[in-house]
Amino acid sequence: MRVEDIRKIAVMGAGDMGHGIAEVALLAGYKVAMRDVEQRFVDKGLARIVDSLEKLAGKQKISQDSKQAMLGNIKTFVDVGEAVRDVDFVIEAVPEIMDLKKEVFKELDKRTPKHAILASNTSNMSITEIASVTGRPEKVVGMHFFNPAVLMRLVEVIKGDKTSEETMQITYDLALKMDKVPVRVEKDSIGFIYNRVNAPTSILLGAILERGLATPEEVDARMRKAGMPMGPYELMDYVGLDVAYHGSLYFAERLSADYTPPKWLKEKVEAGNLGKKTGRGIFDWSRGRPEIDLSKAKEDFDPTDLIAIQVNEAAKLLEEGVAKSPDDIDKAMVNGGGGAFGPFQLAREIGFDKLAARCEQLARQFGVKAFEPTETLKRGKI
Ligand code: 3HC
Repeated sequence: MRVEDIRKIAVMGAGDMGHGIAEVALLAGYKVAMRDVEQRFVDKGLARIVDSLEKLAGKQKISQDSKQAMLGNIKTFVDVGEAVRDVDFVIEAVPEIMDLKKEVFKELDKRTPKHAILASNTSNMSITEIASVTGRPEKVVGMHFFNPAVLMRLVEVIKGDKTSEETMQITYDLALKMDKVPVRVEKDSIGFIYNRVNAPTSILLGAILERGLATPEEVDARMRKAGMPMGPYELMDYVGLDVAYHGSLYFAERLSADYTPPKWLKEKVEAGNLGKKTGRGIFDWSRGRPEIDLSKAKEDFDPTDLIAIQVNEAAKLLEEGVAKSPDDIDKAMVNGGGGAFGPFQLAREIGFDKLAARCEQLARQFGVKAFEPTETLKRGKI
């Protein structure tokens, strides 16, 4: 199969990511089947696509005619079999629960045509493990989009242990057709590139709140003043505290106990305060995006701390062969989030030795092994 043979794409899940991915596929000219477990979920996902396409048409980014054509190209389903009967490519975007993903892939393996590629939009989870329940592991791949999928350009293309080179190439080419910036993830490793590089910064941000060292507004204001479009705590709310919580649990189980979710995060999730989607999380979203008062910036919070931790984790990815080059990691970090520079670009300016020393101090101050500088960072030759 080649990318030109893909005509119809199915998306499993119509939530934050599913509806966005379905919209991206429509914008690229594909026929789309979007499926969720209840009619009200697919209806909501479709309404969000209509809103977003209207926004794009309002700004003349697409014409009214093409908007109408795209809306004619999408069908919604509750029944999996009907949704995927004649598709060439499936992207799964169901909640981050391994057993659920396995159930979906088992069903997809039974119901899709034999040539179809089955991709998972999982944020962190093992593609190899997901593929193991299918009879076609060579056609199972990670295709990881970023929120909001319509605007964020990165797509990580992740190789499971048995994913074929043909499947990797078609998925990479499909991301290009979707006007995205694909980055290959060569090894199926927890959190892949973007989320893995950010994972230890979540430990630091969690500890800052737990210890009362700063308020979310003080840190977010500082990061906004440093050029980020959204502060890190607002971003957690935007993506969903449930997503952050489940991600931390998975990292804690599979990588290190350092990632055990902090108490405040567990409490918010248990109380159903998940961020933007429920109207309340770390911030109040009941009247839209929270207003961050930039004058509250905590000037002694140093954004370099986040860079030090990120570049350290990024260096580990090179050591482990997960990413091919520092440039690939920078490309992923710039296109997945709102930053202007990647961690290696910044580290070359600041100096690897300074960042290694800062990692050492942070590891001691917070008692977190994950912050300890890795050998390549200490040697400073990256
Ligand atoms: N559809 C179409 N247009 C949209 C849109 C949508 N869904 N959402 C926003 N827009 C448009 C707005 O209309 C606006 O257009 P304009 O500039 O022409 O007026 C533009 O995008 C910017 O939106 P806003 O004015 O509302 O606000 P911002 O300028 O802050 O942009 C943002 C919003 C793009 C979300 C920006 O804040 C941002 O880049 N934030 C960082 C997001 C990020 O880091 N995402 C990665 C998360 S991690 C992840 O997804 C991993 C996963 O595994 C969990």
